[in-house]
Amino acid sequence: MISYCFRLFIFLSLSSFSVESRQLNGNAYKLSSRFPTFHHEDPSHLDNNGTIEGKRWAILIAGSQGYENYRHQADVCHAYQILRNGGLEDDNIIVFMYDDIALNEYNPRPGIIINKPDGENVYKGVPKDYTGEDVNLNNFLGVILGNKTRLTGGGSGKVVDSGPNDRIFIYYADHGSPGLLGMPSGDDLYAKDLINVLKKKHQAKSYKSMVFYVEACESGSMFEGILPSNLNIYAVTAANARENSWGTYCPGDYPSFPSEFDTCLGDLFSISWMEDSDIHDLRNETLEQQYQVVRRRTAVDSLDVSSHVMQYGSMTFKKDFLFSYLGTNPQNDHFALSSAHHSLNLPITSNVVSQRDASLLHFWYKFHRAPEGSPIKVEAHKELVGELSQRKHIDESINQIIRVLFGYRNVPEMLNSVQSAGKPLVNDWNCFKLLVNAFKKCCGSATSRYETKYSGAFANMCNAGVDMKQATATITEACSIHS
Ligand SMILES: *[C@@H]1O[C@H](CO)[C@@H](O)[C@H](O)[C@H]1NC(C)=O
Ligand SMILES: *[C@@H]1O[C@H](CO)[C@@H](O)[C@H](O)[C@H]1NC(C)=O
Ligand SMILES: *[C@@H]1O[C@H](CO)[C@@H](O)[C@H](O)[C@H]1NC(C)=O
Repeated sequence: MISYCFRLFIFLSLSSFSVESRQLNGNAYKLSSRFPTFHHEDPSHLDNNGTIEGKRWAILIAGSQGYENYRHQADVCHAYQILRNGGLEDDNIIVFMYDDIALNEYNPRPGIIINKPDGENVYKGVPKDYTGEDVNLNNFLGVILGNKTRLTGGGSGKVVDSGPNDRIFIYYADHGSPGLLGMPSGDDLYAKDLINVLKKKHQAKSYKSMVFYVEACESGSMFEGILPSNLNIYAVTAANARENSWGTYCPGDYPSFPSEFDTCLGDLFSISWMEDSDIHDLRNETLEQQYQVVRRRTAVDSLDVSSHVMQYGSMTFKKDFLFSYLGTNPQNDHFALSSAHHSLNLPITSNVVSQRDASLLHFWYKFHRAPEGSPIKVEAHKELVGELSQRKHIDESINQIIRVLFGYRNVPEMLNSVQSAGKPLVNDWNCFKLLVNAFKKCCGSATSRYETKYSGAFANMCNAGVDMKQATATITEACSIHS
């Protein structure tokens, strides 16, 4: 729907493009009587003196690169500030970010990253543990496992060197798709591989409990039907297994989007949990309470442009206070949950744009704002047209692949069917990885990752028992045809 709108605009009205935000903003905001009624735990059973047994660890990762993906790294920097204000030490916070935003030639505020329109600089002090090409799959998994020999060499070498009483918080912000999360370079993170590593970490008895927050399209598919409930891992995802997640604080937003920016500054689920964490006494707010707040804030009721925040895994420690994972900012001591700041409990009243279309929005604004005849205008036009034609090529290729392998009549079924809720996306993960990788290799778009939109179709092909050799040959052939 949204991408259709975009195309329409871009093809039909290259000259008068002032309406896109209204279109994106087809969401009806319901602001009435939705304040949460929380059941409060007695915080007195917190460990002595407001400290916890064991250490807290955190891994923060932005899996994208490119200025059009500004928001993912902004989210991750903001998360870092929450943890630092909460009292965690840099030794225990491991940050993965490509780090091409703050000093990007298009950043109107050099050296600064913000995560909301009137936000402060969240880039300050962020440790550069893994940047550039070092933001990769092996490093990420090696860091989780605390296994330095798995690391690929670059970066700070910091890993989660945790013990049996420690708590681990992992936050991932990126593009995703059914069954995988992106990485800015090299291989993507497949759900099955992630779960295997988490099982290994559990076997090694090197944590007490783990909380995993994921912002990405179809992020539920990373855990649905495959995250066991006995690993002491509680996962919260921005979206269920078959829907988009949303960027927010985007150009064209009102009332006060800073006019010098032409890219979205945050993501809806992410800013929801972080703005909630920013102001509360986290010794007095549980994981479950935050889940409820975030779910409410993320799901703008008109479901075209919202997502269902989901929880997976072990539900036994949802009554843990956030403090056990994020610490707490002393400035918020004894801040009563929900008494003030009602706005944080309401669906967000900001424009949202689907993760996959946020790059188009950026290219459009870049084009739109550049002075007539300037080199930037020419460049932005090239990027916009390039992205659109690549998308068209990807759309056509997947249709062609399914036609060849399954026949014309099965195209809609292969494109649209999804496993029933609670079941894993795919039975044969090797088949899935092989086909998705082949498609990425010959049809992929490096920054918008638009091709990943179709990973669900490859899951369906594998579930239907496709011949892998024939399928990869078909993919290569279809992608090589340019109309
Ligand atoms: C609690 O922590 C404070 C500050 O770290 C310390 O001064 C105080 O002695 C501690 N109290 C107890 C009962 O441990
Ligand atoms: C650490 O990783 C290396 C390389 O992948 C592997 O050979 C080794 O067994 C791992 N060590 C542990 C303790 O898992
Ligand atoms: C925790 O929150 C509840 C409800 O908002 C409030 O009544 C209580 O005083 C808070 N406790 C502390 C220690 O801040």
